[in-house]
Amino acid sequence: MPTEKKTFFITGAGRGLGADIARSALAAGHNIVATGRSVQSVEQAVGPHERLLVLPLDITDLTQAQSAVDAAVGRFGRIDVLVNNAGNFIAGFFEELSPAQVQAQVGTLLFGTMNVTRAALPVMRKQRSGQVVSISSAAGIVGQQLCTAYAAGKFGVEGFMESLAEEVEQFGISTTIVVPGFFRTELLTPESTSWSELTIDDYGEQTAQNKTAWDGMNGQQPGDPAKLAEALIGLIDSDEPPARWVAGADAVATVEGKARTLIAQVDAHRALSSSLAHEEVAA
Ligand SMILES: NC(=O)c1ccc[n+]([C@@H]2O[C@H](COP(=O)([O-])OP(=O)(O)OC[C@H]3O[C@@H](n4cnc5c(N)ncnc54)[C@H](OP(=O)(O)O)[C@@H]3O)[C@@H](O)[C@H]2O)c1
Repeated sequence: MPTEKKTFFITGAGRGLGADIARSALAAGHNIVATGRSVQSVEQAVGPHERLLVLPLDITDLTQAQSAVDAAVGRFGRIDVLVNNAGNFIAGFFEELSPAQVQAQVGTLLFGTMNVTRAALPVMRKQRSGQVVSISSAAGIVGQQLCTAYAAGKFGVEGFMESLAEEVEQFGISTTIVVPGFFRTELLTPESTSWSELTIDDYGEQTAQNKTAWDGMNGQQPGDPAKLAEALIGLIDSDEPPARWVAGADAVATVEGKARTLIAQVDAHRALSSSLAHEEVAA
């Protein structure tokens, strides 16, 4: 049991990782506000429990986020840990994604995360304590084909969270970015993955092949979301929760590779890069 009972507020708790995080946090003795677009799904996945409050929340709706935060505070009096988990995957080559699809993807992954964080921060600021946890992705560190919109959203989450950390530390609020590799949730099912709605002949064959390949990955992902959830609750309850936690051996390799690539890119042009100041500054 944790030494201190906290109140968690979790988005996208009706299935996948969010449901596992809610169950693990409940098992650890915390109060849980589990939210989702379908209250019924969240109740089925997590509840019932005396320390559980289930609320409707589509994270793209700032007003609903505010109402959910108000209801959470009404029930438990505080919010100690916000877990920005909700997300989806809009896949496809950039040119075949419609502008509306790109906006919808970034609207959920980044602006949705910002909406819920915006609603929760005043509560944490008043408390002078709190923790904002956002689920990013290995695709938030390294770009790859078919992920232009998804990576744009997740890179955005990384930049948002890193910058926010510096603004809210003064109020006793800490941040944790979670960087998962492939975990066996429902993300690659048709309920969570949708494909580009435009068709361009030059991409046609590759798109068809990629759809088949990604379909084949569904159910084969190496990561166990229940293990991730339990480990995450352990880290959140630790004395020093990490600013970034890379989850899964595949993600560790991806992030390490990116770190090496960045150093190599800096080294390749170090002298040129460092020679661009005004003459009086250089002197
Ligand atoms: N699984 C992986 O391999 C993996 C890897 C890296 C990062 N991630 C990230 O992990 C997080 C959880 O995804 P998952 O893998 O657990 O996928 P999942 O099984 O498909 O679950 C996604 C959850 O997000 C919810 N959601 C989607 N859009 C929402 C919205 N606008 N408002 C509220 N809830 C919304 C879904 O609710 P509905 O039931 O209403 O659709 C569902 O509960 C996501 O941020 C995802 O990007 C996953």
